[in-house]
Amino acid sequence: MEKKVKHKEEAFLQHPALFIAVLVLGLFFMDPFEIGPVGGIEFRPVKHDIAPYKEVMGSWPRDNESRLGNGKLEFVDKVFGPESLEFNKFGHGPYTGLADGRIVRWMGQGIGWETFVIFTSNWFNKDSGDLYIADANYGPLVVGSGGGLATPLATHVAGKPILFANDLDIHKNGSIFFTDTSRKYNRVYHFFILLEGETTGRILRYDPPTKTTHVVLDGLAFPNGIQLMKYWLEGPRTGTTELNSSTRDSGSQSMDEELILQITHEDEDFSKNDGDEDVHGDLTVQENGEIVKVLEDRKGVVMKLVSEVREVEGKLWIGTVAHNHIATLSYP
Ligand SMILES: *[C@@H]1O[C@H](CO)[C@@H](O)[C@H](O)[C@H]1NC(C)=O
Ligand SMILES: *[C@@H]1O[C@H](CO)[C@@H](O)[C@H](O)[C@H]1NC(C)=O
Ligand SMILES: *[C@@H]1O[C@H](CO)[C@@H](O)[C@H](O)[C@H]1NC(C)=O
Repeated sequence: MEKKVKHKEEAFLQHPALFIAVLVLGLFFMDPFEIGPVGGIEFRPVKHDIAPYKEVMGSWPRDNESRLGNGKLEFVDKVFGPESLEFNKFGHGPYTGLADGRIVRWMGQGIGWETFVIFTSNWFNKDSGDLYIADANYGPLVVGSGGGLATPLATHVAGKPILFANDLDIHKNGSIFFTDTSRKYNRVYHFFILLEGETTGRILRYDPPTKTTHVVLDGLAFPNGIQLMKYWLEGPRTGTTELNSSTRDSGSQSMDEELILQITHEDEDFSKNDGDEDVHGDLTVQENGEIVKVLEDRKGVVMKLVSEVREVEGKLWIGTVAHNHIATLSYP
């Protein structure tokens, strides 16, 4: 018996490479120094019951003409990660938030891009001209029509810091509704929200008269953009998140009857869809909650990733969080 044990140990020592490999693997999985990607993070994957990607996409309307591929890339290498685009009440712009945290505005060929706010999705109050900003690091902020230093509006809700403000919309009564993508992870760690499937995202509301912040909806999975619609804020369906564009009461888009939404297919990236084709830029136009039009760049020739869209005077302006350009397309 004893002989056998000894024999085993000897075998192990005779193969130092094996010994080291086991040690390295052990260190790798236990990560005692918290240097791995999830080091120091309380990573708790959540299982969701969602329809398989193929099933959803199987019945999804497609753009056989791949019309987004007819778009034009503008300001190439001049803007990095322009996710949200805005125009002021005079139609001047675009204004956009960049990956470095700045908000810049296009002043025309003569001047070019100018830094507008030193501190990203944004929205103008059309009456006051103030620009409201949802900054991932600083929460919702406001800056006057002349730009400059932005003022924070809400940094905490119910005594806890707001970690990941993402987008906002202004209610007609002046309240600011904004998304807080996660209570657990900030923007730097946003990938973990997707990977873990956690649902601590919220919609929050800041009331300027009382300078107070409130939780409107809780338990959301990566709430990203927000667009106010009457039904779920007021009336009998309060609290429901029904999409009904014809009852939209706020926003700067010139369209009244249509709401353009952006659908991300980012989950493709890591769930490795086994489809035979990649979906790149994809815009869906809805009316009364019905999909009436889909615009795609099916081969990703021009638009590889679409983040947000504005329609201004016969043109769609399309922002992207991960590329160094703004795309435009004549529309309708
Ligand atoms: C697009 O092509 C698919 C497959 O070829 C077809 O089933 C579908 O009806 C087409 N859609 C339109 C809008 O032409
Ligand atoms: C604006 O309306 C919303 C929705 O009804 C309400 O929750 C909020 O308190 C209102 N804000 C102000 C400033 O009255
Ligand atoms: C959206 O609102 C309009 C007008 O109130 C209504 O007629 C329509 O049925 C609604 N659509 C959905 C999907 O509820």
